[in-house]
Amino acid sequence: MFQNKEIKETLLQQETPLYYYDLPLLERTLDAAKQAADKRNFHIHYALKANFNDRILNIIQSKGYGADCVSGGEVEKSIAVGFPAGQITFAGVGKSDKEIILALKHRIFAFNVESIQELEVINELAGQIGEKANVSLRINPNVDAHTHHYITTGLDENKFGVPNSELEKAAAIIKNCPNINLIGLHFHIGSQITDLNVFKSLCVKVNEWKNFFEERGTYIKVINVGGGLGVDYKNPDENPIPDFEAYFDIFDKFLERTGQHEVHFELGRALVAQCGSLVSKVLYTKSGLKKNFLILDAGMTELMRPALYQAYHKIEKIGEVSPTDKVLNYDVVGPICESSDCFGKEVELPVSKRGDLIAIRTAGAYGEVMASNYNLRNEIRNYFKEN
Ligand code: LLP
Repeated sequence: MFQNKEIKETLLQQETPLYYYDLPLLERTLDAAKQAADKRNFHIHYALKANFNDRILNIIQSKGYGADCVSGGEVEKSIAVGFPAGQITFAGVGKSDKEIILALKHRIFAFNVESIQELEVINELAGQIGEKANVSLRINPNVDAHTHHYITTGLDENKFGVPNSELEKAAAIIKNCPNINLIGLHFHIGSQITDLNVFKSLCVKVNEWKNFFEERGTYIKVINVGGGLGVDYKNPDENPIPDFEAYFDIFDKFLERTGQHEVHFELGRALVAQCGSLVSKVLYTKSGLKKNFLILDAGMTELMRPALYQAYHKIEKIGEVSPTDKVLNYDVVGPICESSDCFGKEVELPVSKRGDLIAIRTAGAYGEVMASNYNLRNEIRNYFKEN
C-alpha cells in the first residue's frame, strides 16, 4: 500500500504523526460485510469504540449499519452523525444514571444489560421519566475466545454479563419490572478472534440460553452475538478484508432460529482495522551498544496497542523499496519516556535516515480512539485517501 514514490511525496507534505485512512478500502470492507450479512438476514451494529472518527462514522452510517455504543458520549455521537435511534444499542458494565436517562430520552433500540442491579436501575429511571426500556440481557457464556487475556470477556472470571447462576432470578425480576421490555439476549466473548471454531462453541451456548428463557415463557426476539472477528495483522496487503462469508456462515449453520428471531452482530475491528495506518517520521537514528534504534515522532500516545497488549503491527518504510536495498534490524520506538514505548523490536527495514516516513499498519481499530494526552503531545492529524 505504501511502497511507491507518489504516496511518499504526498505524505511528506503532511505534518506527522497522522492517521492515514484508505476510504475506498473501508468502503469495500463495509460492502463485503454488509452483503454477507444481508444475505442471511443478519444485522450489524458497528462498535463505535473501535473508531469514532467523524469521517469514518459518516461512511459507516451511510451504508445502513446500526451503532453499538458503550457510553453516553458514543450514543450522542452516533445520533449526531445520523445513525437512527432505532438502530442504536447501549452496552457496558458501568452505565451511569445520566447516561441511562440520555439513552432513554433518545429512545434507542436497546440496552445491553450487564447485571440484575442495572436492570432495577433502568426500570426505576424509565419509570421516573415515563419511558419504557427495551433490554437485552448480557449473558456470560463461559466460552474461551483463545485470544489475548486482556481482550477476553466471556469467561466466568471476567466482569462482563450476568453469571449463569443468576439468570433464573433475572428472568423472574424482569417479569416484575413494568418499565422494562426484554427483547433479547446478548453475548460477546472477546476480540481479535481468529479461530472461528470459538464461534461454534458460542452458538451452542446461545441456543441453550435462548431455550432456557423460551421454556420459561419469555420469547427472545433478538439474539445478539457481539463482535470479535479478528483481522490479519501479519499480512495486511494479502488479506485486507476479513472472510465475512466464513464468519457469518458459522452462525447461519449453528444458531437455532426461526424466521421471527433477529440475529445481531457488533463488529468493530473487522470493519475498520485494515483501512488505517499510523504514519510517522523518523526523527533520529541511533546505534546503541546492542541495538539500532529508529526514533519516531509517534509514540504509545498515538498507538497504545503494542505497549498495552504487546500487539504486533506490521511496520514498513514508505516509498519505493528495491530488493537490493540494504536492510538493518531496528527497534522502532517513540519519543515517550517509557521503555514500553516501542512499536516493534528487531524489525527488518531498509536502512533509514532522519526524515524518512514509516507506516505502522492495521491501526484503524483501537488506534486513534485510544490515544492519550500523556506528555502533553499534539493533537492527532488525519489524512484520508479518497480514491
Ligand atoms: N461488543 C462488545 C460488548 C465489546 O466489548 C466489543 C469490544 C465489541 C462488541 C467489538 O469487538 P470487535 O469486533 O472490535 O472485536 N482495545 C482492544 C480491543 C478491546 C475490545 C473491547 N470490546 C484492542 O486494541 O485490541
